[in-house]
This record gives sequence, C-alpha cells and structure tokens, in this order.
Amino acid sequence: MSLTQSQEYYLQTMGVDVYWSKDRLIADPVSIPVVETEFEENEAWGDLRQRVAKCQQCELHRGRKQTVFGVGDHNADWLIIGEAPGAEEDKQGEPFVGRAGKLLNSMLLACGLQREQVFIANILKCRPPNNRDPHAQEVAACSAYLRQQIDLIQPKIILAVGRIAAQNLLQTETPIGKMRGQQYEYADTGIPVVVTYHPAYLLRSPREKRKSWQDLQMAMRVYKKTIHQETK
Ligand code: URA
Repeated sequence: MSLTQSQEYYLQTMGVDVYWSKDRLIADPVSIPVVETEFEENEAWGDLRQRVAKCQQCELHRGRKQTVFGVGDHNADWLIIGEAPGAEEDKQGEPFVGRAGKLLNSMLLACGLQREQVFIANILKCRPPNNRDPHAQEVAACSAYLRQQIDLIQPKIILAVGRIAAQNLLQTETPIGKMRGQQYEYADTGIPVVVTYHPAYLLRSPREKRKSWQDLQMAMRVYKKTIHQETK
C-alpha cells in the first residue's frame, strides 16, 4: 500500500521529506467516513460544559478570558490530548487554533483524519500565565473534567501530544523520548494511548517530525487493531 496523494501532501506540510524515504513512510491511512450531522448536545455534555465554564477550582480562572472546553465529535474514535490553552486558544475558546494547531491538523490529515472527526482537548481547560507548565494542583483540579470527557466519548484511541499530556495521562515522569514507540493504556479504561511530540516542539525542532510520523503510523496500527478486535 503506498501513500495517497493527500497523505503525501500533508506529510510535506508536516515537513517530512517524502522523496528519499518513501518506502519507509508507507502507511495505510485510517478511513472513517465524514458524517455531517446536525449536532445537538445532550444533557451530560451540556452539564459538563457549563461546569467547566464556571470552574474556579484553581487560580487559573483569574487570568483566563474563557475556558477552553475541547472541540470535535462527541463520538470520536480518536481523542487528541494536548497540554493547555495558549494565548490564541484563550481568545478563541478552542484548543489548538494557533500555529501548533495548524501543524496538528496536518498531522491528523496525514493519518486520513479531518479535525472535525476527532475530539481535541487539553490536560488544562484554562491558560497558564506566560505559557508556563501546569502546576500539579491545577492538573489535579482539572483532571475530573477530562476524565468525564473520556468517559462520555469512549474513544478507541488516545493520542497524547507532548510531555505534559503524556506524563499526566499515564502518571509517570519518564521523559517523552523514552515513552515513544510503545502502546499504553489510560487508567482503568483499557483505552490505548500512543504518545508523540507536541506540535509546538516540532515547530521548534523540525528534524523530530520524522519521529512524530513514526508515532502516528503506530497510532494508526493500534487504532486498526483495536477496531478489528472489537468486530471479531
Ligand atoms: N498547545 C496545547 O497543548 N494545547 C492547545 O490547545 C494549544 C497549544
């Protein structure tokens, strides 16, 4: 199976050189039909969204313009989890809308996934000042919201982007470079977790995009194995 034209295009957008390494980049993109549905939020989602919007459980509520709840398909097979909103996300109320978000979209498209087909959330719902790392107490205050989102979505795979997401989801202090290349499980749910670099890091260190593409290929394999096992 060779790369599709659009996959090749998005790999180039990701900055992965597809010319000399084509055979090593061979991948079969996931195919999930894009279903345009009139979307009505049910009570559980509406209630959770409201609780997040009003949350004052940590100091970050003082500096926020708004909370960043998460966006996407409530029944998504893929849940993407990042760190925390940045300035642009705080302004727009949506995760990954800045430069890193554009790269994340390309990473997803390289896997055959449109942004609307996945759900995107963060470890924190509020922006930490000056984009500093989240404090443990902030993560603890926010974690129940993310857990409820995961329970509602019941994704088939979680893609943790970046060190903060990976370490907090998997309750470890292992450096992200050492976590890559393995499949994990989120808490007691049995949901597989795959770890990759944060797109903001990839923008600063474009040579690492190749590794990130390996992670995405692994995530596609894990996803396909999961749905195959479910349909057996
Ligand atoms: N970085 C993140 O981890 N999340 C966002 O929503 C934006 C940038």
